[in-house]
Amino acid sequence: MATSGVPGGTCRRLSTLEEVFEETYGSPPTLLVRAPGRVNLIGEHIDYNGLPVFPMALQHEVRLALRPRDDETVRLHSNDQRFPPIHFEIEPAIEPWKKGSWGNYAKAPAQELAERFGIWQGFDGVLESDIPVAAGLSSSSAIVNAVGLALAHISEVSTEPRSLAAVMADAERYVGTQGGGMDQAISLGARDRCAAKITFHPLRLRHVVVPDDWCFIVADSGDVAEKSGALQAAYNLRRKECDEALRVMTAHLATEKITAQLCMSYPDLCGTIDAETLIKISEQVLQGSLLRRFRHAVTEAARVDEAVDRMLAADVHGFGALMDASHASLKTDYHVSTAALDELVAVAKEGGAAGARLTGAGFGGCVVVLASRWTVGEVLETLVTEYFERRHQAERLEERLFVAVPCRGASIREI
Ligand code: GLA
Repeated sequence: MATSGVPGGTCRRLSTLEEVFEETYGSPPTLLVRAPGRVNLIGEHIDYNGLPVFPMALQHEVRLALRPRDDETVRLHSNDQRFPPIHFEIEPAIEPWKKGSWGNYAKAPAQELAERFGIWQGFDGVLESDIPVAAGLSSSSAIVNAVGLALAHISEVSTEPRSLAAVMADAERYVGTQGGGMDQAISLGARDRCAAKITFHPLRLRHVVVPDDWCFIVADSGDVAEKSGALQAAYNLRRKECDEALRVMTAHLATEKITAQLCMSYPDLCGTIDAETLIKISEQVLQGSLLRRFRHAVTEAARVDEAVDRMLAADVHGFGALMDASHASLKTDYHVSTAALDELVAVAKEGGAAGARLTGAGFGGCVVVLASRWTVGEVLETLVTEYFERRHQAERLEERLFVAVPCRGASIREI
């Protein structure tokens, strides 16, 4: 992955965390956790249907310095002034704070681990993050994972990435968003230089090395996409619509005896009937938004499989075309794009990108753009002049426009 001379570069290290810890609590921390954000390359809004996705972890991460305590209390300071200090007691039924409180992302793993494994031991911690907030890069799941990894480690619960990821995916629903398991799985399980095709039930990660001359650019539209805010109802509604579309389709297939065995889930359906035939059948059986949501789910799953092959073949244009098709489907069938995201995609393409699409839940946040090492400079330049400068949004550009570096998943170490 070409990183020299463009925003992004190597994995960034944050510096003063341990000093802040000592100032706050009067003694040094004993453990250091890191959990990265992620950018989803393709496979959007289908993890909650059990369908595969293809994200990679980012160089931007949450870091948590901590010292275990002998009681049930968790005290947590954030270096970011927007997030005031919190403290709470670990118990199986922890009362959430009001909607939108950042502390709920720390309570979520504590409550889940207490309920499942009876953990009780808390910690004092200081947390720092350079993952852009509410931008579709999983800043919140990185907090859940960092706190979850710390608590699991202290209480000797398995921290094996896949088993912890499944627990953390359930944990995060505490905040009210009925998410799938993509964010937790990639943040915990990613490998250096790799994207991962994630399949669910059972959770598996297939690591695919990102070709050296591919650059995935992340560009933030500036529209806030707050998972625990307005986005939540729209997100949960889509999940419901997908469930309803599945119910109607499986009932129809069973009544008409179209398949020999019963298809009960999206993976069953997509594994038994090819995408084209499924779409034809759905056009007779479903209408309106149910038809559109179903069509997106089925075509996006097929694009994920194809995208893995394109990356293995180092076919940058083939991969890019799939990203373009994904964006079109998210815009017209899934209704999760915005004017700003569409504009960013169009500008990136004008600049010579191989492909571009919104990434994450949408309704704002970022796009991910694919360029080759030879075109990345031109694409970045075009995004700067034709989007950020035009909109007078060129301040702190390094946070809003960067080349993603595929980094390894979360880790914990003694200090
Ligand atoms: C959010 C959720 C994920 C996934 C994406 C959309 O990030 O947390 O589980 O559904 O949206 O692909």
